[in-house]
Amino acid sequence: MGTEKETGSNSYENNIKGSSYIIKECTLESLEGVIEVNEKELPEDYPYFFYKSILDNFPESFLTAVNNDNKIVGYVMWRVERIPSMNNLKIINKGHLVSIAVLNEYRRKGIASKLLEKSMPKILEKKINEYVLEVRVSNYGAIDLYKGLGYKIDSIKKKYYRSFYIFIQACLVFGYCS
Ligand code: ACO
Ligand code: ZN
Repeated sequence: MGTEKETGSNSYENNIKGSSYIIKECTLESLEGVIEVNEKELPEDYPYFFYKSILDNFPESFLTAVNNDNKIVGYVMWRVERIPSMNNLKIINKGHLVSIAVLNEYRRKGIASKLLEKSMPKILEKKINEYVLEVRVSNYGAIDLYKGLGYKIDSIKKKYYRSFYIFIQACLVFGYCS
């Protein structure tokens, strides 16, 4: 979809549906923009140190999508976890898709797909055996995105989010064997 030009190490300019977006690694300076996108688009907010620790430990797979005005319009972040495999109970390294979001007005242009396409090989380099992610059962758009990329539903679990009140939300656990 669209055209792509390498603009530096781990930086790519993508022309998607007539607009240009740079996909590049997150920096300390761009964390604020990432947090803004997260707070606007997702109910689960994380403290600053959480983003910072992912940036410190897994910078190659922490990517941002930046528009022509240098505004961060999307991000993806991953980390490696040691958890049981999808296929047996052996403890293995998994690449956990911690969070991905694209600002509402920039959606359906292929930005999330591009962020995943570029970040998945990077977290794979960390010697993971599987990819894993959780998504709310009601998040049809994200579910379609993951299915389209080849992710398969592994299980369903109830998850608790604490906000002003507590509510229970079921999540699909998706896996993808590299
Ligand atoms: N409805 C149906 N299908 C969708 C939708 C949707 N709302 N969004 C994406 N898809 C599917 C389509 O097949 C789409 O291809 P198409 O546009 O050619 O039909 C394909 O996924 C690729 O979509 P992208 O354009 O690459 O995705 P986008 O940049 O719009 O971002 C995202 C998708 C990240 C889910 C965005 O809607 C978003 O930020 N939502 C709010 C945050 C969120 O829910 N994040 C995921 C939470 S789970 C987690 O982080 C582990
Ligand atoms: Zn998760």
